[in-house]
Amino acid sequence: MASSDALSIRPATTRDLDALARIESEHLSGTWTRDALADELGKSFARIRVATAGESVCAFVHGWLVADELHVLNVATHGEWRRRGVARALLEAFFVEARGSGSVKALLEVRASNGPAIALYRSFGFIDDAVRTRYYSNGEDALLMSVTW
Ligand SMILES: CC(C)(COP(=O)(O)OP(=O)(O)OC[C@H]1O[C@@H](n2cnc3c(N)ncnc32)[C@H](O)[C@@H]1OP(=O)(O)O)[C@@H](O)C(=O)NCCC(=O)NCCS
Repeated sequence: MASSDALSIRPATTRDLDALARIESEHLSGTWTRDALADELGKSFARIRVATAGESVCAFVHGWLVADELHVLNVATHGEWRRRGVARALLEAFFVEARGSGSVKALLEVRASNGPAIALYRSFGFIDDAVRTRYYSNGEDALLMSVTW
């Protein structure tokens, strides 16, 4: 990352919705539409954080704080920003913030074939809890992972 592209991490706002919806449709399942993401911004338990460089939204993470657990719903980095430490920086900040809000555990589910995401989560100490066989509509298994802090 060039020094002129210093990364910032902040809560998402309505002005980010187009960028979030684009990343969601291009790099995730597309389940979270722009309207659904807009609804999330108004929920007290939902958190969406964005990593930006200048005016660009490079990545976002979306989760729910439920009691003392953080449920990580999605994380994605826009293609040109991949492998530059963006998701790592974003998740690090997200987890620090969640722990500061009383979370003692984080949970997620990920496609069993998603090597990059699984490697990322393992680097934060996530372990495999269970496999949901043929969980996704294409018949793929889901891996359930968690980390306790
Ligand atoms: C998974 C994803 C978010 C990683 O984003 P990123 O910004 O490129 O990740 P980082 O550069 O911060 O990488 C952090 C670590 O993740 C792992 N990782 C990331 N991309 C990887 C890849 N292509 N292959 C293997 N490991 C990878 C590595 O452990 C890496 O650490 P390293 O660079 O020191 O080896 C990105 O590939 C993505 O958006 N994928 C599509 C969306 C998705 O599948 N999200 C997860 C849904 S559960």
